[in-house]
Amino acid sequence: MNIQWYPGHMTKAKRAMKEDIKLIDLIIELVDARVPCSSRNPDIDELGRNKARLILLNKADLASEKGNDSWVSYFGRQGIPAVKVDSRSRAGLKQIQEAVAEACREKTERDRKRGILNRPVRAMVVGIPNVGKSTFINSYAGKASARTGNKPGVTKGNQWIRLNKTLELLDTPGILWPRFESTEVGLHLAFIGSINDEILDREELAAELILLLSRQCPEALPKRYGEEVAGGSHMSQAVDALEGIARARGCVVKGNEYDLKKAANLLLDDYRSGRLGRITLEFPQEERKKEP
Ligand code: G4P
Repeated sequence: MNIQWYPGHMTKAKRAMKEDIKLIDLIIELVDARVPCSSRNPDIDELGRNKARLILLNKADLASEKGNDSWVSYFGRQGIPAVKVDSRSRAGLKQIQEAVAEACREKTERDRKRGILNRPVRAMVVGIPNVGKSTFINSYAGKASARTGNKPGVTKGNQWIRLNKTLELLDTPGILWPRFESTEVGLHLAFIGSINDEILDREELAAELILLLSRQCPEALPKRYGEEVAGGSHMSQAVDALEGIARARGCVVKGNEYDLKKAANLLLDDYRSGRLGRITLEFPQEERKKEP
């Protein structure tokens, strides 16, 4: 399956983000905990050079605990503190303040040596579309937080949300473009619903998801749709499983044919909403190497 999606306004967005990044000390990068690698754009490493960094594994409620923990350790080993959060239920938000302090320790130390004390850290939230940036800002900033007015040097329209004495957040998130450096990355983004999948063949996409689920979490399909929906490692087995889902859920069109498109939509919806369970689709590279 060939997935291509390249928003035309990318260059403009990149230029705007470069300007905004000049104003801040800390980049808070949101990734989707189910696909933390595919949902990142590595350009952020270049854009955010010399800035403190924090990664939030958002939608941690939809990913496995084991997966979440292995990504927190992985990013920690890269020198970037990471925190698991569920912005919808607000779980994990309390851990952020400490992680911000850890991420900004060097900067705070530098400030202290120059005699600058208690200057709040200025942060910006960035991430690809649909990763939960607005939900996070609303949950974390809450209704009570005061919006400080425009200040000189701040791009027109940008406002700072003062969260507490130590942290100010730019109220508009930076939108990163998804990357499509491989079919695998494109598929992972399509599975979580980050790509407008009207342009994709849903049956093919669902069959690819079945192949991946059979590898990463073989019990998920039989548990939800019945023992006969097992999946497997071949495309023909994936198509059989899709038919099995159609059978189990009564997706038939006239003439008693299976409605595979309906079954495909049902499966994708079930995965995206967590009804198949908490399933991480990718693990850090070094752990993949450990797999048989
Ligand atoms: P964006 O600004 O990065 O584009 O993302 P946005 O906040 O709009 O969130 C995209 C979708 O992801 C929303 O669902 C939102 O509720 C959901 N979401 C955000 N954070 C989390 C999380 O931590 N866990 C879970 N399970 N979902 C999360 P939606 O269906 O598009 O909207 P709605 O029906 O929830 O309003």
